[in-house]
Amino acid sequence: MGFRGLGAAVGLAVLVCAAAGAGGEHARRLAADIAVMEGDAHALLDPATAEVHKRGLRARLGGGLSTLGLLIRLAGQENPRLGPAPPDAVGSLRAALERGDGLGLAKGLGALARLYPFDATGILPATATPARLGRGRQIHQDICAGCHDAPDLETPRPAFNLFERTRALPAGEFAARLVAGVRGDNLMSLQNPLSDEEMASLIAFYRQGAPKD
Ligand code: HEC
Repeated sequence: MGFRGLGAAVGLAVLVCAAAGAGGEHARRLAADIAVMEGDAHALLDPATAEVHKRGLRARLGGGLSTLGLLIRLAGQENPRLGPAPPDAVGSLRAALERGDGLGLAKGLGALARLYPFDATGILPATATPARLGRGRQIHQDICAGCHDAPDLETPRPAFNLFERTRALPAGEFAARLVAGVRGDNLMSLQNPLSDEEMASLIAFYRQGAPKD
């Protein structure tokens, strides 16, 4: 290979790596959405979940299922090593939701979660350091507190208290909710505005518990 050929090969490798990175982001979003939906399906089955919130969960699951097929395609295009979803996986989940079959929904989502496992590397273990605690506090107070610190629990889809959610949920599921949740379920905004380090900082901060005033 001549010098030029080598240069082209290096350039190509850089392009391929950049594409792999972007593919990773879609795959992560897909896996996060599945982890959140699986958690929501379990909350739907939980007798302790309020009826009004079950309504919100069903609506949210419906929204998640409507973008799931697209996310599976995007992730698969960018990372061909990802296995294809079983045929009509999304259709059978939708049918389970429509007939109120929470168990079927949870099982189907569990199977998808095994196919597309959520990888929280870079966010967890979210070990607390002074820098993280300060950053987490800052982001929370500047952006999140206004909606999340005093949720209206009468609404179907409250902005739950994030200090409580951090403790109540498995760490991986909460990290997935940060990846998937901050942007709501807007189809157009696939990009997460928070970096991994910012999410790790928020988790470290939330674990400390709400500041006493
Ligand atoms: C404008 C109000 C608003 C702001 C600002 C906001 N959120 Fe939310 N957030 C919500 C609402 C409402 C929901 C519930 C959405 C739903 O049920 O679909 C939510 C959901 C979430 C969830 C999923 C929670 C769960 O229990 O499933 C997480 C995590 C989250 N937000 C984190 C954040 C973080 C971190 C910030 C700041 C960087 C933030 N949010 C800023 C309103 C807000």
